[in-house]
Amino acid sequence: MTDARFDEKLGISTGGFKEWDSDQPHYHRYEPTSYEVLEYLFERYKLKRGDKFVDFGSGKGRVAIYVHHRFKIPVVGIEAQADVHALAMLNRQCYRTRAGKTRVRVHFEHGLAEDYLIKPDENRFYFFNSFSVDVFQEVLVNITASLEEASRDVHLILYYPMPSYTKVMSGHPLFEIHKEIKLPDTSDRKERILIYRSTER
Ligand SMILES: C[S@@+](CC[C@H](N)C(=O)[O-])C[C@H]1O[C@@H](n2cnc3c(N)ncnc32)[C@H](O)[C@@H]1O
Repeated sequence: MTDARFDEKLGISTGGFKEWDSDQPHYHRYEPTSYEVLEYLFERYKLKRGDKFVDFGSGKGRVAIYVHHRFKIPVVGIEAQADVHALAMLNRQCYRTRAGKTRVRVHFEHGLAEDYLIKPDENRFYFFNSFSVDVFQEVLVNITASLEEASRDVHLILYYPMPSYTKVMSGHPLFEIHKEIKLPDTSDRKERILIYRSTER
């Protein structure tokens, strides 16, 4: 199914790119994870009831809404570009109309990922090339602080990980590699998903 058809099925519109209006050396543009990658990932890696999913740099909301639709778990997306966040809110409204009544939360926040206050029950964190490794490290500090307050089974899901990200993760005292999912038909080494899990659960 094409991305456009998938969007249509969910009642949302998440295609295209959106650059920042001003120069932002640490913050990357909007570009969605393709549905093909989401399907490939979630056929091989499952989320379960009780999980709470957070997308850091959630754009127009594609990943969060897909996960909500597929696994019926609460999802949160944090997006820094105000106009992109506004489109995610519109998508949320259209999706909820299409999906019918559900008490499972779909929540989008406008703000910086590094300022987001991690809740003690959030346990699945998704990253797709949203920001520089410096910002990633700030988010990681927040996640580890949250883990120290509430020890739990946390997974970091990194799609298209930069070598700078994997360098930070290798040898991290609180995380170990859980799974590597290589995408088919590509010679690009970054076309993979790395899932790290907390060592103290
Ligand atoms: C590559 S897109 C990924 C979108 C979405 N996660 C997906 O996979 O479809 C990165 C998004 O992160 C946003 N972003 C960049 N820096 C951010 C930050 N510090 N905090 C929150 N969002 C940020 C961008 O505006 C953009 O929408």
